[in-house]
Amino acid sequence: MSVPLLKVGAVLSTMIMITNWMSQKLPALVGLDQHFARPGTSEKIISVLYPGEDEGWQVYGSVRGKCVCSIMTPAQGACGGDPRHCRLQQLSDHVLNVSQYMELLNQRTAQDLQQLKDSETLLDALETRLKTAHDDPHSVTTKSLQELRWSVSQCRPLRALLGRLRADAGQLESLKEELEKLKYSLSVLQEHFTLRHYQRLQQRASVLQQHLHTCSSQLGCGRLTGISAPLTVRSSGSRFGSWMMDTVIDSSDNRVWVMDGYLKGRRLVEYQSLGDFASGQNFIVHHLPHPWAGTGHVVYNGSLYYNKHHSNVLVRYDLASGGVQQQRSLHHAGFNNTFPYSWGGSSDIDLMADEMGLWAVYTSIAHGGNMVLSRLHPDTLEVERSWDTGFPKRSAGESFLICGTLYVTNSHLAGAKVHYTFHTATASYEYTDIAFHNQYSHISMLDYNPRTRALYTWNNGHQVLYDLTLLHFIRTADDAWDAETPHTD
Ligand SMILES: *[C@@H]1O[C@H](CO)[C@@H](O)[C@H](O)[C@H]1NC(C)=O
Ligand SMILES: *[C@@H]1O[C@H](CO)[C@@H](O)[C@H](O)[C@H]1NC(C)=O
Ligand SMILES: *[C@@H]1O[C@H](CO)[C@@H](O)[C@H](O)[C@H]1NC(C)=O
Repeated sequence: MSVPLLKVGAVLSTMIMITNWMSQKLPALVGLDQHFARPGTSEKIISVLYPGEDEGWQVYGSVRGKCVCSIMTPAQGACGGDPRHCRLQQLSDHVLNVSQYMELLNQRTAQDLQQLKDSETLLDALETRLKTAHDDPHSVTTKSLQELRWSVSQCRPLRALLGRLRADAGQLESLKEELEKLKYSLSVLQEHFTLRHYQRLQQRASVLQQHLHTCSSQLGCGRLTGISAPLTVRSSGSRFGSWMMDTVIDSSDNRVWVMDGYLKGRRLVEYQSLGDFASGQNFIVHHLPHPWAGTGHVVYNGSLYYNKHHSNVLVRYDLASGGVQQQRSLHHAGFNNTFPYSWGGSSDIDLMADEMGLWAVYTSIAHGGNMVLSRLHPDTLEVERSWDTGFPKRSAGESFLICGTLYVTNSHLAGAKVHYTFHTATASYEYTDIAFHNQYSHISMLDYNPRTRALYTWNNGHQVLYDLTLLHFIRTADDAWDAETPHTD
């Protein structure tokens, strides 16, 4: 089962719909709306393209305890792909014919009535003449007899009129029958439309639900196709900084970690939840043993990973015990604002996490300033594998990883977009054009969190979230669908 290219347009337009829906629901999804949010549940966006019968149904959904899916029916012919629509069309044509015919009858009857009225005057005159003749037989002359005959001849068309009226009465009778039949057909059709149509819709809905279920269990890594409108969670701190949530630990840990500033900071602020962070309450301040550089920190599986000030040393700080568990130099990596992102700020080394693990983005003189992506062992901080992405680090606004694909923005200023992607699976790159709204015009941190499936940014002293549209192509078996072929009536 292949996916024709043709459908991609339709897919993308529906994606926009979903994205809009997502942006409306975003506060609830990220847990700001306490009424809807369940603590510790994570958001997953599932999109299914179903290449089924008739060029297919397309299913998209968002799963978070509940499923939301939208269905696009395939492009259809004159009858809308449903024989009932054809029947309905025929019936309404028929009704049109019948009503046109009734109009005709109506006009004819009106003419006939006028003629009858004219004849009435004639009959009156005839009656008077006959009465005079009867009362006084002597008054009857040849002339008056001629006049009487003429009057009678004038009444002759009345016979034809009578015949026509008789015929019309017959027509009316058959039209009445016709209308009865139409009424019946319509009621049968209505029954189908309500009961059977409803049943079929229900059947389809349950099949779709199965598909969504199958798809959520098969959910692989999605490809980024859209970024929602920004949601400002809070406005706090200086222009540059970093805020994050654990990218691995699930359920109950909804703590938010904040590191304000990019130079020599040691103050790590912990909030109990996103809600606490948004309202600025319930926080604990930790002091890190070593100061940090830049904003590329990440919280991964209960540890904070960051770049030690004035060095290319990576530090793993255990959040539970408050102790440094590991320190290791990232060999040859530039530091001290030698190879920062476009905004500067000693953002030489950017640590990040995705569905596949812990990573570092940096560069060195040997790589000529091109962004290097390295997979790190989370315990030892050793480099497991590296890729040269081919994109100059100083020209990048920021970068983030989703499912082993690095997404690079072209600026930290207004008008920034996701401009370049590098796939580690194939070691290949491509140029992209994924726009997003850089609301406060200066992004100093941009990271994807695979657990909450959102983008976290620090934008000119505002902490902002974006939701993402990830496109998944998931193939499902046809067999369940074939049973769904509409029956002809
Ligand atoms: C309506 O009338 C036209 C011409 O009079 C005829 O061709 C057509 O079949 C009629 N349609 C129906 C549904 O009776
Ligand atoms: C997270 O840490 C626990 C031990 O604290 C370990 O068992 C688990 O494998 C780690 N998960 C990842 C994804 O590294
Ligand atoms: C880092 O840069 C500062 C000033 O820009 C300089 O004083 C310092 O010596 C540098 N440190 C290293 C280790 O290069």
